[in-house]
Amino acid sequence: MFSCSVITVLLFFFVSIISSKNVEGSQPVLQKTVEALFTEKSQVIYPGACKLIPASPRQAKMCKRNPGLPKLLQVAKHQAITACEETFRYDRWNCSLFFNKRTKRNIFNKVYRETAFVHALIAASITHAVAKACASGDLTKCSCLGSFGKNSSWKIGGCGDDFKQGKRVTRNFLEFKQAGSDQIGQVLKQDIIVGIDSMGEQMREVCKCHGFSGSCTTKTCWRRLGPFNSAMGLLKKHFHHAVKQKVLNYTVKRAITLKLRNKLKVDRKKLVYLHRTPNLCVGTIGRVCKDRNNCATLCCGRGYITTKKLISFRCRCRMINCCAVQCDTCTQEVDIYTCK
Ligand SMILES: *[C@@H]1O[C@H](CO)[C@@H](O)[C@H](O)[C@H]1NC(C)=O
Ligand SMILES: *[C@@H]1O[C@H](CO)[C@@H](O)[C@H](O)[C@H]1NC(C)=O
Ligand SMILES: *[C@@H]1O[C@H](CO)[C@@H](O)[C@H](O)[C@H]1NC(C)=O
Repeated sequence: MFSCSVITVLLFFFVSIISSKNVEGSQPVLQKTVEALFTEKSQVIYPGACKLIPASPRQAKMCKRNPGLPKLLQVAKHQAITACEETFRYDRWNCSLFFNKRTKRNIFNKVYRETAFVHALIAASITHAVAKACASGDLTKCSCLGSFGKNSSWKIGGCGDDFKQGKRVTRNFLEFKQAGSDQIGQVLKQDIIVGIDSMGEQMREVCKCHGFSGSCTTKTCWRRLGPFNSAMGLLKKHFHHAVKQKVLNYTVKRAITLKLRNKLKVDRKKLVYLHRTPNLCVGTIGRVCKDRNNCATLCCGRGYITTKKLISFRCRCRMINCCAVQCDTCTQEVDIYTCK
């Protein structure tokens, strides 16, 4: 029994050493995790402590130590995909994994603008989920790092969403440091940072007054994150302003040196990608536009078909016997525009 566990520990140690090395051709945990969370829309449960992803040994250890973590991954994945599909519903790329049915080219095959965005999105979502869980106590081992300020006469404190903790956990969990110093590693790491920081920009100060009849003799302030959806505007802006970096020609994977970095002129505040997105127009046949204006871009100039559809909604609502609301159901004919 004893020797058995020693062997397990040694094997575990050995495997961790191998997997933390960025061997050419192998994919770092960062990429694998982002891909697994974005790709698998069904509820596959993997063996191991993290359940939702085929976890690395390090990730499995984190999930085992923090039993709240698998649930958080579930939240992070769900809110990321939902927000993405909602935000891009009327865009040529609608958060689908494949660019179009013909090529079967997956957004994770290369580092496209979409790939960069999805890395930022997943990182932002994990950060948000962790920060929220820290504030609500769903995740233990969260300190009150979200509170700020020192002011002797005003009681400033309280425990808000713990963004710093969210950032730390996200970087740790994605094995950020081990993601490689080659070009792809550097680019994706920057995209992850842009995603996390866009969450930090969503922090708002909220204060609550205490005292007789709202006199505000003492005040408690804390920083709070809004709903995840409210960060999508900023993330989408990053998507549109992403910059393409020249792909370096390697015979072997090599680290980006400072000299090389200067030559590439990396703007650290922007999403970076390496490969041009294939033509998305083939994929928009049959897509539904928001309105005629949107059809002009979504349908790529092929035009659209207008059909009528009856929709029903609640109407003529009124109070019944003081407290109950009763409504009728009305129907209305609306135009639906579909790309040719
Ligand atoms: C404490 O902060 C409030 C505003 O947040 C300010 O009005 C007050 O003067 C501050 N008190 C001290 C002692 O700095
Ligand atoms: C990359 O460099 C090698 C050697 O310098 C060269 O043989 C190869 O054609 C280059 N590849 C590309 C895609 O430019
Ligand atoms: C995205 O568009 C494709 C067609 O290009 C469609 O099959 C898919 O259902 C769409 N996804 C969403 C979430 O609307």
